[in-house]
Amino acid sequence: MTDTMQPAKKKRMLSGIKPSGALTLGSYLGAIRNWKDRAEEFDCYYFMADLHSITVRQNPADLRRRSLEQLAQYIACGIDPEKNVLFFQSHVHQHAELGWVLNCYAMFGELSRMTQFKDKSAKNADNINGGLFTYPALMAADILLYQADYVPVGEDQKQHVELTRDIAKRFNSIYGDVFTMPEPYIPKVGARIMSLANPDAKMSKSENDDPGRVTLMDPPEVIMRLFKRAITDCDAEVRYDPENKKGVSNLMTIYSATTGRSFAEIEQEFAGHGYGDFKKAVGESVVELLRPIREETCRLLADKAYLQKVMAEGAEKASYVAEKTLRKVYKKVGFVAR
Ligand code: TYM
Repeated sequence: MTDTMQPAKKKRMLSGIKPSGALTLGSYLGAIRNWKDRAEEFDCYYFMADLHSITVRQNPADLRRRSLEQLAQYIACGIDPEKNVLFFQSHVHQHAELGWVLNCYAMFGELSRMTQFKDKSAKNADNINGGLFTYPALMAADILLYQADYVPVGEDQKQHVELTRDIAKRFNSIYGDVFTMPEPYIPKVGARIMSLANPDAKMSKSENDDPGRVTLMDPPEVIMRLFKRAITDCDAEVRYDPENKKGVSNLMTIYSATTGRSFAEIEQEFAGHGYGDFKKAVGESVVELLRPIREETCRLLADKAYLQKVMAEGAEKASYVAEKTLRKVYKKVGFVAR
């Protein structure tokens, strides 16, 4: 490199999770695992999407407790706050402000097509509020505020990232190159972990006492019980066939994600064994994966001063970047400067 050459600027990575329920094995394998060990290569921002969580009614005390627990879990999962910016969405007011602006650039038809809106309104028929409908515009703001290049998410969020791109394209075509075009960054294995009790539905964090969900805080005996009872089928053959053997294929996906083994290797490992041995092995691999995360989360939760410091520093760093984009947007759309 000559004196005049600058080192290449790192690309930016950003993602968030709603603290609307306990984090699950799905949240970990679909998203958080992909956030780890990226800080050398990328400039990384990860947040608690608390503004998003109130599109569904929350108990305030539970929401506060879960949000803090989620921060501790990010760190326990290996997201080092010295190298990554960790923050609460509600601490950075620019999210709500850009969210409003982008609402005016997101079309009714586009928002109506979002599968998550359709699913959630079917599940919460008594609370189909405006926030649930316009939520993807706020998510677009989350991403575009930071000029993120990559958004590491599970399969179910791909549609929202694509809508973000459409909104960014529309905005840029009117005002010039304001926003970086983000790309979804989806894992090859684990992008869609299904419920252990109903392999037709995604493993979801929102339902308490759901026998289909493994949370990051479940103790080993609970995890083993959940896997023992996981729905499979009656032909007792460990074979990857997501069409006809959804339950078994989901367990194979989990096992592949936790051990790094391919589906062919897993089929070989359990050839001639019943599902009992297979489920036990999958359960044990998950217990070992989650044990250090659970223990470290408990340790961190006892250190409130440290968590306070992390969230304050994170909010400050995030606000700095967010404000730059918001100023630019306000100027472009024609607001008078303060
Ligand atoms: P949320 O909170 O529903 O899910 C958080 C992340 O976990 C992934 N995920 C899964 N992956 C695989 N299998 C599963 N069963 C599973 N369940 C959840 C999700 O794909 C997601 O990556 N709208 C987002 C939060 C958000 C966001 C953002 C994400 C708000 N603003 C900006 C990225 C960028 C959501 O509701 O995710």
